[in-house]
Amino acid sequence: MRHLLGTKDLSKEEALAILDLAEDMAQVQHRQVKKLPALRGRTIVNAFFEDSTRTRTSFEIAGKWLSADTINVSAKGSSVSKGESLRDTMLTLDAMGVDAFVIRHPSSGAAKQVSGWVGAHVINAGDGQHEHPTQALLDAFSMRHHFAKIGNPGFEGKRVAIVGDLLHSRVVRSNVYLLSKLGAEVVLVAPPTLMPAGVENWPVTTAYDFDSVISELDVAMMLRVQRERMAGGFFPTPREYSDAYGLTLERLRRLKEGAAICHPGPMNRGVEISSAASDSAASLVFDQVASGVAVRMSVLYTLLGGEEGIRE
Ligand code: CP
Repeated sequence: MRHLLGTKDLSKEEALAILDLAEDMAQVQHRQVKKLPALRGRTIVNAFFEDSTRTRTSFEIAGKWLSADTINVSAKGSSVSKGESLRDTMLTLDAMGVDAFVIRHPSSGAAKQVSGWVGAHVINAGDGQHEHPTQALLDAFSMRHHFAKIGNPGFEGKRVAIVGDLLHSRVVRSNVYLLSKLGAEVVLVAPPTLMPAGVENWPVTTAYDFDSVISELDVAMMLRVQRERMAGGFFPTPREYSDAYGLTLERLRRLKEGAAICHPGPMNRGVEISSAASDSAASLVFDQVASGVAVRMSVLYTLLGGEEGIRE
């Protein structure tokens, strides 16, 4: 594999290989000395043109734990703030001999564009409203652990609802493509104003009434209301949104036994998810964060490890 741009083009076998390798990588997290020599001498640039806490930090930790040299570049503090184009910025960094770029950018398709310009490997860390493949992989890793822990392993026959602001989400696409390949049934739940156009062509069912599906779910994945991307009024008030689509205490009580709650973060507590739900025993929120390091180590090793990992 040369780049990881999305889960749409990832085969089931490639996804499972990343998840399986992440199991080994997760062991490093529990060691006193968290260091493997696997990517010694490799240079990874985290180029983040949009804010991030989880993705940027976990990619940096993942690279460091694999002994790679990791460098962070952001729009603020780089010559992007002087008007340098994305292409010139990436070609400049590529000319320094970088082995891999982890890129986050507000424009959909930016990671694919960059992969056409540079000799380094490219990992999409979130491009606009398009894809966020490592988020979906870490979500799947956490779910797989949860299903095994409750004695009901595997994705076949599992029902996963992705609920909330689907219109502005890149996490939804990556999760739909990946979870359906792994065998789960995905149901999208959102108000009509926040349901993406074209979902009828996705491998999903849809519902506008959260209460009609809540008791049948194996996983409720709550997505953030992305107010920074909303130009108009997509719902009357946060209170009304929460009443209809939030994972409130009342809905938490209606989840079936063994059901799990996911949220990619950052959370709007009291809007799409209540503290009762996010802090409950059913919540995988911080397992997801921990899984992020192991999965990103696995992705970095898959792309950069071995002979084929050497840049063009
Ligand atoms: N889930 C996620 O991508 O979080 P960050 O924006 O903090 O990276």
